[in-house]
Amino acid sequence: MNRYKIAIIKGDGIGPEIVDEAIKVLDAVSAKENFELNYEEYLMGGCAYDVKGVPLPAETVEGCKNSDAILFGAIGGEKWDNLERHLRPESGLLKLRSELGVFANLRPTNVFDELVDASTIKPEVLKGVDLFVVRELTGGIYFGQPREKGIDRAYNTMVYTKEEIRRIAVVAFESAMKRRKSVCSVDKANVLEVSQLWRETVEEVALDYPEVTLSHMYVDNAAMQLVRNPKQFDVILTGNIFGDILSDEASMISGSIGLLPSASVGGKVGLFEPIHGSAPDIAGQGISNPIATVMSAAMMLRFALNENNAAERIEKAVQMVLKDGYRTKDLADYGAKEVCSTSEIGSIIADYVAKI
Ligand code: IPM
Ligand code: MG
Repeated sequence: MNRYKIAIIKGDGIGPEIVDEAIKVLDAVSAKENFELNYEEYLMGGCAYDVKGVPLPAETVEGCKNSDAILFGAIGGEKWDNLERHLRPESGLLKLRSELGVFANLRPTNVFDELVDASTIKPEVLKGVDLFVVRELTGGIYFGQPREKGIDRAYNTMVYTKEEIRRIAVVAFESAMKRRKSVCSVDKANVLEVSQLWRETVEEVALDYPEVTLSHMYVDNAAMQLVRNPKQFDVILTGNIFGDILSDEASMISGSIGLLPSASVGGKVGLFEPIHGSAPDIAGQGISNPIATVMSAAMMLRFALNENNAAERIEKAVQMVLKDGYRTKDLADYGAKEVCSTSEIGSIIADYVAKI
C-alpha cells in the first residue's frame, strides 16, 4: 500500500474549517482507493505570528519540504493588517511558495451546469467554459528588487529572467497538449519591456510545440474577453500579478469563488490551495464553502501523488453532490434542495466518495 506524508496548513479565518472538510474527503477516498495519508499540521499566517512571532516559522518550511504534498487553507485577516509587510500573513505564503520553488500555479475554471445561474454572467456565455490559467508564481512584481515604501514615494519592480519565462511557458504548452492545444499568453507588451521579453520567449518555446496554437493578448483586453466570451480560452499563460487578477475574475465564471482550486507546482513538493482568501467575516459560522479546498485536495492527489483514480472520484462526487442539490449558503439561491453547513456538505461529499 502506498503511504504519503501530507503537510497540513490550516491558516486563518475559514482556513481550519474548510481544510477539516477536505481531510474528511481525503480519508474517505484513501480508504476506498487503498492508500494511506499521514497528516502533520503546521502553522502559517496570522496564527503563526500570534504564537511564534513570524508568519512562516522555520519548522513549517522544514516540515513542508519533507512531505509528499502540502494542503493549505487560507491566511490573513484584519487583525494583522497593520503589521510591517514582512510580518504580515501574506508574506508567509509568498515566502513558502518561494522556498518551495513552486513557480507554476495552475488554476482551472470550469462551469458546473447546475450552477450556471449562480454567475453574474449570462448562462449562454458560460455553458461549456473550460479554461486553465497557468500563472507564474515566484517571480514578477511580487518578488522583484528593488522595492521600497518611502513617505512620499514608493516603488516595486516587475522583473522576469528569460529562464523564468521559459519554464512557465513550457508548463503552459505541456498543459495545452493534454487539453485543446491552444495557449493564449497574456502580457502588456505594448507598454512594458518585461512583457516584450515575455512575448519573445513564449514565441521561442512555441517552436517546440507545433501542434499548439499560440495567441497573445494584452492583459486589459484579456480581462474584457474573459467576461465577453470566456469559451475562446483554453490555456491562459501569464505572469504573477496578471494571473492573480485574472484568476479571481475567472472564478466568477464558475459562480462562486468558493469553488475554485489551485495547484502550485514545479518545485520538489507541491502546494495545493483554494484560490479564495480567509474570509474572516464568515469564519466560525459554519457557512463557508469547502468545495474549492476539496477540489484542491483532488488536484493534490493527481499532480503530487499520481493517485488519478482517487482524484477523479472526488471530482465526480462533488459534481454529483451539486447535481443532487446540496449547497452551502453562498449558493443557496441556485438550485438548492438542501442548504448545508460547511461540515454537512463535507460529510455528504465524503459519503458520495465512498459509495460511487
Ligand atoms: C492568491 C492570493 C495571494 C496572491 C495573496 C494572499 C498573497 O491572492 O493566491 O491568489 O496574491 O498570490
Ligand atoms: Mg489572488
